[in-house]
Amino acid sequence: MKDFAGKIAFITGGACGAGFGQAQIFAEAGMKVVIADVRQDHIDEAMEYFKKTGAPVHAIRLDVTDRAGYAAAADETERVFGSSPDLLVLTAGVNAFGPVEASTFEDFDWVMGVNLGGVINGLVTFVPRMIKAGRGGYVAATVSYGAFGATPFVAPYTASKMAVLNLLESYWQALKPYGIGVSALCPANINSRIYEAAIKTRPESLKNTGYNVSEETQAVLAVTNKTGIDPRDLAESLKRGIETETFLVIPYPSAARMVEIDMRRFADYTSPEGMKRLEERKKQPPTEEQKQIFREKEGYEMDQAPEAPQGPDVGFGKARKDLDWVAPENRAK
Ligand SMILES: NC(=O)c1ccc[n+]([C@@H]2O[C@H](COP(=O)([O-])OP(=O)(O)OC[C@H]3O[C@@H](n4cnc5c(N)ncnc54)[C@H](O)[C@@H]3O)[C@@H](O)[C@H]2O)c1
Repeated sequence: MKDFAGKIAFITGGACGAGFGQAQIFAEAGMKVVIADVRQDHIDEAMEYFKKTGAPVHAIRLDVTDRAGYAAAADETERVFGSSPDLLVLTAGVNAFGPVEASTFEDFDWVMGVNLGGVINGLVTFVPRMIKAGRGGYVAATVSYGAFGATPFVAPYTASKMAVLNLLESYWQALKPYGIGVSALCPANINSRIYEAAIKTRPESLKNTGYNVSEETQAVLAVTNKTGIDPRDLAESLKRGIETETFLVIPYPSAARMVEIDMRRFADYTSPEGMKRLEERKKQPPTEEQKQIFREKEGYEMDQAPEAPQGPDVGFGKARKDLDWVAPENRAK
């Protein structure tokens, strides 16, 4: 897809962070944009911005786990802008940090529900409508570079993202005959407000967590997020990816090399020799290339983590204090 002007974009999570950056860039490219988001405060902030720019942006309050709500949002898009979207961008997402062995059903239900379930709901709601409209178009999702690794301290998240990546690859193959392109946007750290999600976005009914979550703890993540890629720059990368029909959009100079390095572990997992090689590699000091890759992904030097808040209730990525069966090093003090 090379021409954006006059076409319609539907962006989930479009009121904040990566999604808000996408709404800005696609509106500036002349698109009519729907932003769909669960947070009214985020919608209000985003719409204040768009009222000033005068861009044709319409906001819909939508929880991406709500299938009936999704169908209603698709109908509303057709009513407001006259047609189903040409560009669907599934960006709404949340995360939760803590040792995987401390995860509750609610930790899995919340993260998988939004990150994987929300993407499935978007695809099942909109793809048939886009095919029926017969104009081709484009589908993208904001996945995460986390899709390429298993991370025991954010496991429901990385599992959800790997599943989304795999799903998108199937849609990419399947939608070609309809003239609909597909891209998976896989950034690492983003300068967004995802650090708020565990407290402000997580529904009351799913608040039972095995992780140590407090305002103080989340403030640690906020510091790290600040060094991440700017949402507008990220959206520009996605736009270029769409223009060039590139399936994997990884917004860093070393993208191909990163994936090559991260994927070789699967080959190593297949033999005892490979398992030994993996262990040996872990003992080696980081190479210059690894340091460079870290810098590109995180926005700071490997050995110079930004100063994080300290305090009695800080224990980021740790289990809840009362889980006495979790290994002491994984437990908040
Ligand atoms: N922040 C990072 O470091 C990072 C890194 C890689 C990928 N991502 C991914 O980028 C995407 C956007 O996240 P962000 O970092 O911009 O976070 P963000 O919190 O700044 O923005 C996400 C938006 O999604 C909305 N949202 C959350 N749950 C929702 C739901 N159930 N229904 C509808 N909207 C919902 C939020 O209200 C928010 O406005 C996510 O999929 C996230 O996993 C983030």
